[in-house]
Amino acid sequence: MRIVNTVSELRDAVRAWRSTGQSVALVPTMGNLHAGHLALVNEAKKKADRVVVSIFVNPTQFGVGEDFETYPRTEHEDRQQLKALGADLLFQPAVSEVYAADAKTVVSVAGLSEWYCGAFRPGHFDGVATVVCKLFNMVQPGVALFGLKDFQQLTVIRTMVRDLNIPVEIVGVETVREVSGLAMSSRNGYLTAEEKTIAAKLYQSLCDARDAVLAGQQSFQQIECRALLFLRESGFTPDYFSLCRASDLKKAGADDRELVLLAAARLGKTRLIDNVCFSRIPLSPPLSKEEAEGRGI
Ligand code: PAJ
Repeated sequence: MRIVNTVSELRDAVRAWRSTGQSVALVPTMGNLHAGHLALVNEAKKKADRVVVSIFVNPTQFGVGEDFETYPRTEHEDRQQLKALGADLLFQPAVSEVYAADAKTVVSVAGLSEWYCGAFRPGHFDGVATVVCKLFNMVQPGVALFGLKDFQQLTVIRTMVRDLNIPVEIVGVETVREVSGLAMSSRNGYLTAEEKTIAAKLYQSLCDARDAVLAGQQSFQQIECRALLFLRESGFTPDYFSLCRASDLKKAGADDRELVLLAAARLGKTRLIDNVCFSRIPLSPPLSKEEAEGRGI
């Protein structure tokens, strides 16, 4: 596996592959790799001839007082894991390589970036959209892979790619979980042993809410309120718990079929996010008298 730190070395490598007709996939990460990241790399290997992984703790997506300084950096272990998995190139730039000191351009996906996590982390999704757009321009991959775990991030990126006509296919990869159901995350390392047991209840609350939606006996609002109460009683401070339309993350209405439950909650000093996507089978309209008779009912 080649390791490069500059955009020009990266471009040379990618250009050489392309000149021989090889396709390129990109997996953007902030490092401290775990099984969730590795699932993206494995999926990338199926989608393209060459796999580029970026590790860049992007300062512009961290708010004031957030964990940019203390974000876990495990360079050596990350490299070993990527080598073992067969990634072709690791792009690991310095902040000065990615951002000009007087950079003036920001990519912002209006609306979507201000809801849910965006409301609690102002500017976060502008930082994400900007760095992902820059990575797309640096690598020019045919395909890029992102985790469904960060469902709002994935929706922001899909919207940006559509709106800016960026020629890349975006693939979402299923969330990798611990046996307890807890979604793997670099920030899980902040949890104490006791908190880790409680943390699994976030996924449980999402599954219970999904089952309640599918059972169809309570209003969406009742289901969300019950989940928020369950989380508070379990020791979380929830930021939000929302049933949304999977396509654009607007609040789900009675006729929407493709849904996602999005949740974020703080546990001690750790902020956890998770989600569950599911489809509601359309309710069949009642049969007319003639139809019922025709079927012998
Ligand atoms: P990071 O948190 O390192 O995540 C990198 C990628 O791994 C993202 O696409 C994320 O959704 C995915 N991922 C994380 N945990 C996962 C899990 N348990 N299962 C499956 N996929 C998982 O997300 C970022 O970095 C940054 O915002 C980035 C997109 C790199 C831009 O800076």
